[in-house]
Amino acid sequence: MTNTTLSDSDFFLIRGGERLKGTVRVSGSKNASLPIMMATLLTEEPCVIRNVPILLDVKNAIELLEILGVDVKFENHTVYVEAKNVGSYFAPDYVVRRMRASILVAGPLLARLGRAVVGMPGGCSIGARSIDQHLKVFEKGGTTINVKGGYIHMEVENIRPVEHTFEVITVTGTENALMFLSRCEKRSVLRNVALEPEVMDLVEVLRKMGVEIEVEGRTMIIRGNEDLRGFDHTVIPDRIEAGTLAVAGFITGGDVVLEGVCPKHMGSQLEKLKEAGATVELLGLDRIRVIGGGKINPLEISTSEYPGFPTDMQAQFMVLCCIADGISQITENIFENRFQHVNELQRMGARISLRGKTAIVFGQDRLSGAEVFSTDLRASASLVLAGLVAEGTTIVREIYHLDRGYERLEEKLKSLGACIERVTYARSTG
Ligand code: EPZ
Repeated sequence: MTNTTLSDSDFFLIRGGERLKGTVRVSGSKNASLPIMMATLLTEEPCVIRNVPILLDVKNAIELLEILGVDVKFENHTVYVEAKNVGSYFAPDYVVRRMRASILVAGPLLARLGRAVVGMPGGCSIGARSIDQHLKVFEKGGTTINVKGGYIHMEVENIRPVEHTFEVITVTGTENALMFLSRCEKRSVLRNVALEPEVMDLVEVLRKMGVEIEVEGRTMIIRGNEDLRGFDHTVIPDRIEAGTLAVAGFITGGDVVLEGVCPKHMGSQLEKLKEAGATVELLGLDRIRVIGGGKINPLEISTSEYPGFPTDMQAQFMVLCCIADGISQITENIFENRFQHVNELQRMGARISLRGKTAIVFGQDRLSGAEVFSTDLRASASLVLAGLVAEGTTIVREIYHLDRGYERLEEKLKSLGACIERVTYARSTG
């Protein structure tokens, strides 16, 4: 029995062996949507954000904005926000725990209200996920910061211009800093910034709102504006969902066309796919075709900040390496604990040995179906991919992790011919 309600008891039932064929449209980017939704706090004017995916994380972000007293409407993949007044600067712990990206309200709240109280985001399963760089920028801008009772209490009179060199390249750290400085009219300089497409999409939005931002290499020069305008923006495609579907098409020996993608955001992934033996055709500005079917070559992958190979694609490419013709090496340089999918893949017969931040993957002809458990968003995607190529049936449990970052993945895969069902036991309310 399946139904479409999402519950944490949902699991996927997958029968492997089908070659994926056909065309599928990729959703808008989760990691661009979230900071852009928080940027609406910077203006009293109405904002429209289009191509927003229907995800648990988006729903969490909407809930958080409503808690802050903001009017939000979400229909037809479009978020309408009017932050005429922001009634609160308190981001409760229970929301932040559900979604670490909630920390992205801090910058806008400080810029708009001079106050923010946010639950400590804490670590998650893939790593410590520190936010020291976010806080350093706030402090340099004149913010007093106290951590007590599990909350970060932040307060600033007038935000001062900042010169800061990030000690680590941080995506949300860069985004928080940009929003924090967006209403400070004096010149600020951020060095060693993140340049992910999702960061640049936020830059586009801030420019539309009236912030002057120059980008030279990994340096950004910001001149804010006291009086920021509303905006109408279409979010970029999700390059990680696109990459996940591209890997699915290739490893099943299929022939898939992905629509609504931005090939230039996928450079490093597409290069690795071609190295593995895929045929990749660019069909116009926003369509790519990925063809598999031949030998799968082993790979050497080392994750790094954009434009390097994305850490968010590491687990998915590991599945490709599990059935490659040879030995692959995957090094995870961004997070300290992003190999939790390895145990579950080993239950499916994968031969992987971990040495610190490097995984050595001994490719084999096939994997075998098993009951496996998701541990985090991208790990769950890798288990689905493994199920698609495994012999027999695979059960992927705890797929609420997947629903955080993939919109209707099972329907997209089914439309390409995959044998996958979402199973939900309607929990008795009695
Ligand atoms: C963003 O997380 C993404 N999330 C992640 O995507 C992605 O994996 C990550 O960037 C790297 O690309 C969103 O954009 C919402 P970081 P973020 O700050 O910003 C350390 C997914 O699957 N660091 O770039 O939290 C940190 O511990 C998610 O969609 C500090 O030490 O990542 C990590 O090791 C998972 N101090 C490294 O930097 C700081 O102040 C990169 O983290 C900030 C970060």
